[in-house]
Amino acid sequence: MENIKSLNKEIFVDSEEISQIVTRLAERINNDYKDKDPVFVVVLNGAFMFAADLLKQINVLSKITFIKLASYTSDKSSGTVKQLIGLNENLKGKDVVIIEDIVDTGLTMQSLRKQLLALDVNSLEIAVLMFKPHKFQCNYPIKYIGKEIEDPFIVGYGFDLDGYYRNLPAIYQVKE
Ligand code: IMP
Repeated sequence: MENIKSLNKEIFVDSEEISQIVTRLAERINNDYKDKDPVFVVVLNGAFMFAADLLKQINVLSKITFIKLASYTSDKSSGTVKQLIGLNENLKGKDVVIIEDIVDTGLTMQSLRKQLLALDVNSLEIAVLMFKPHKFQCNYPIKYIGKEIEDPFIVGYGFDLDGYYRNLPAIYQVKE
């Protein structure tokens, strides 16, 4: 706890840059979905702040739903398999956009993607605020990427360290 309180961190992406990134993504999504009726699937908890800012700028008629991913504790060998909980929207035939905070190895998103594709959606795209291309171990497309970053551990703007720091309005890099 003391370590968390006295965390050594420095600004990585300030609020102004976040706002520019979010606006740019929203413009692309508005354009791509102008004749569609998309469903945005927000992955909690990390994406809550990004999703709130992004979705305020979405001007196409759309639905928003929230999910969580829980690891299966009973099957430790497949640590990447995540159970999808909270989905209460019928996604069959829908144009779905997943909103996630970050894709690192990509295994979490790969698991979610498979589960949503199995629901017979019409299309499925991914919007992420941060992407770590050097860590990515998968090969599915990510259409909307806010910013590509190397490998710092980041906190703030929804990103957490043991549940802390999600509320910070900017993104910070954690220093050793
Ligand atoms: P992946 O399965 O390796 O792509 O990991 C994705 C998840 O790891 C994200 O949804 C985050 O919850 C978490 N994560 C990855 N990198 C960071 C980071 O730099 N800060 C905070 N959380 C992170």
